[in-house]
Amino acid sequence: MIELPTTSGDGHTSETFVPVFSNEELVFTTDETAQIERWKSHYPTVDGAIMRVLWLAQEKFGYLAPEVIRLSAEATGIPYAKAYGVATFYTQYFKKKKGKHVLDVCTCFTCQLCGGYDILHYLEEKLGIKSGETTSDGEFTIQQAECLGACDAAPMLQVTNGRYVMQLTPEKIDAMLDALRDGKSLEFESMTLPQDADEMGGNRRSDTQAVLETKAPPIAETIL
Ligand code: FES
Repeated sequence: MIELPTTSGDGHTSETFVPVFSNEELVFTTDETAQIERWKSHYPTVDGAIMRVLWLAQEKFGYLAPEVIRLSAEATGIPYAKAYGVATFYTQYFKKKKGKHVLDVCTCFTCQLCGGYDILHYLEEKLGIKSGETTSDGEFTIQQAECLGACDAAPMLQVTNGRYVMQLTPEKIDAMLDALRDGKSLEFESMTLPQDADEMGGNRRSDTQAVLETKAPPIAETIL
């Protein structure tokens, strides 16, 4: 067992965790370490690299268990508490093991008005779990999300910090779940704003190939 400080309480307390990952597993490879060093040199202070290092760690370990956050903090050269603060601030960093596909359903204002909760409850019923839970086969986790910046396409959801699925309907949810279960890539959807109608063939966001090839940013293997 290891003791890691937490940000709860008066700042002087610590909690005991039973690590999920062994010391043998808790290492970055030579290439990963080199990448981390490049990120660190890219910012005025090394603190700036922590988001990328945490992202890399999440891709590598699946989620940010306390010992993974500690590894990330040590690799970056910052205190654990600082890395913990960043990891717990953003919902995109998973602090617990999630399903293979994490469905972030936006229930913020615009999506809510456009049926975001109906979509959430439809998904919950369909998968037999509540928001925050993971299906027993480990395939899906449902979460509620704050505004994801696609209000014009409400109601919408995001799949595992990546693809947006927009203007949701029950039929679309069914098709999305089938596609994800079959390991198929979701079709790219492009929204055209009314003011864009006469520009670039009626769709300024028409670079579908670039979007199809884009993974959830920031990509850990991106070399600056
Ligand atoms: S309110 Fe849902 S994307 Fe903005």
